[in-house]
Amino acid sequence: MTTTSGASGSSRIPIAVLISGSGSNLQSLVDAQEALESYEIVVVISDRPDVQGLDRAHDADIASEVVDWNLFESRVSFSDAICDVAERHGARGLVLAGFMRILSSNAINRFTDAIINVHPSLLPAFPGAHAVENALAYGVATTGITVHFVDEQVDHGPIISQESVMVRPDDDAASLHSRIQQVEHHLLPLAVAAFAQGNLTVDGRHVRWGTSTPETEKR
Ligand code: GRF
Repeated sequence: MTTTSGASGSSRIPIAVLISGSGSNLQSLVDAQEALESYEIVVVISDRPDVQGLDRAHDADIASEVVDWNLFESRVSFSDAICDVAERHGARGLVLAGFMRILSSNAINRFTDAIINVHPSLLPAFPGAHAVENALAYGVATTGITVHFVDEQVDHGPIISQESVMVRPDDDAASLHSRIQQVEHHLLPLAVAAFAQGNLTVDGRHVRWGTSTPETEKR
């Protein structure tokens, strides 16, 4: 099946940003949204209270809600609650920006080809919650970032963009993750903007860029 995500036209596409922690990727989306003129963050949703990302939303005057993972009996009911909040705010896409929960298939079906995740490795290498540590432990010379659509499998959906980061001999997880995050903060807003512009077409595992490409967007 081929689907074009987001929408074309002049109005901005409303998106929800899902977080679990510091929210530096959220901040990059906030900082870029005026210049990119294609998406509007209508709500920030956290799976836990008292995280820095919620303060960032407040400072940016963006609505925020906590959907507390610990209050739900199942992943399905948690995922439905996330989608309910996003839809109540009018969101047409979900961006997982350091969101450390797996959404169930009901969420994937409610936001088909409209959920974007950023992952700190070059997928399919090193999926999961410890990608940076695992890449270091494996001894790779190069790792990187993947921005991808979310499907039913963890860190698996069609790839929107990737960029490599060299591993330095003296790197520890913190130093490597810091350089990875600098690239994330560039790649993720561009991918979300392309989605919002209707510039991404999903065809099986392949994502085709329309009028622009990851390379031209970088300039
Ligand atoms: C990012 O590096 C992301 O790739 C990973 O978790 C980190 C979240 O960082 N999934 P932040 O909350 O956006 O600062």
